[in-house]
Amino acid sequence: MALSIPHGGTLINRIAEHQQPPSLDKHVEIDAIALSDLELIATGAYSPLTGFLGQADYDSVVERMRLADGTVWSIPITLPVSEAQAEALQPGDRVLLTHRGVTYGLLELTEIYRPNKEREATAVYRTADLAHPGVAKLWERGPVYLAGPITLYKRTAKEYPEHQFDPAETRRLFAERGWNSVVGFQTRNPVHRAHEYIQKAALEIVDGLLLHPLVGETKADDVPAAIRMESYQVLLKEYYPADRVQLAVFPAAMRYAGPREAIFHAMVRKNYGCTHFIVGRDHAGVGNYYGTYDAQLIFREFAPEELGITPLFFEHSFYCKKCGNMASTKTCPHDAAHHLVLSGTKVRQMLAEGIAPPPEFSRPEVAEVLIRGVRSVAR
Ligand code: ADX
Repeated sequence: MALSIPHGGTLINRIAEHQQPPSLDKHVEIDAIALSDLELIATGAYSPLTGFLGQADYDSVVERMRLADGTVWSIPITLPVSEAQAEALQPGDRVLLTHRGVTYGLLELTEIYRPNKEREATAVYRTADLAHPGVAKLWERGPVYLAGPITLYKRTAKEYPEHQFDPAETRRLFAERGWNSVVGFQTRNPVHRAHEYIQKAALEIVDGLLLHPLVGETKADDVPAAIRMESYQVLLKEYYPADRVQLAVFPAAMRYAGPREAIFHAMVRKNYGCTHFIVGRDHAGVGNYYGTYDAQLIFREFAPEELGITPLFFEHSFYCKKCGNMASTKTCPHDAAHHLVLSGTKVRQMLAEGIAPPPEFSRPEVAEVLIRGVRSVAR
């Protein structure tokens, strides 16, 4: 088996880091999500995208989870701006993209269009409920979308220099390590025993694991990325074979779009070189908006060859006191009374109170980092 072929066939590269951006009189200030999308397009993480979606691609992604040419793509990557910002622009313009006044990129503006956000929310998030963090964010962002190919002139600051790798770099690392099959693991949480169990179950059948925590924008009550990064490092040091795991950050924003985001996460990890991708319980879910296994079922809507990465599905996993080990309903015959299951809310509450979850739920070294981290944030 060889490393996966990038989505759409070619790894996109729109980085012009060593060139000066042209001096232009038009610029738009973009938000943190658009900035992370800009960089992810440029590095090829979003291959085959070369820019922010135009209306034909946008409509097609919203309606049928495909770009206009049929390529699988499930989350619209758009550049929303205000009416006032859009007023100063017209198709054909070359526009500098700035964030907090600093120029990062250039947009060759091809289209300006107004989305139907109600339709986008219902299709992408399966709800128009403003209590859904992804839907709330959709409405919070501007009402007009700009489209067109981009160029990235400036990289964002490397917050985790030892773990920051573009798709071309992870591909090189995998090749250097001699891995022919690599499983990608998406997470926005600390790695607890259930996560560890499914990662290691996958590692029994593939050569390497890309632990690929999302470190872009998340909702306020998710554990901050810096604390998580520290917890991943102690966990890997104590419990994982160093030559089988690569830790790297995924600098995207979290959408909380459940099933659609699972497809998106898989396509992007394919671009980073993964051959396999883990989808467990309620992947990228929030609240009760999605069924526990909806993010697995959605993979059935596509042919394996158009996905080009093999999803590895896992049942809800837990520690079973009677089995004396980690298990799922696929492997454990005992009833729920013997299972140690803690909700995210409960765990957050325990950590804030300085109480370590039991070692069957979370490694003590991980709990220690989280307690310290969560308390220092609260202070
Ligand atoms: S996510 O929003 O990034 O998907 P999280 O970090 O909780 O959330 O999950 C990372 C991955 O582990 C996802 O694929 C998720 O489905 C899976 N997962 C989380 N908890 C469990 C569990 N107890 N059993 C099985 N899979 C799980």
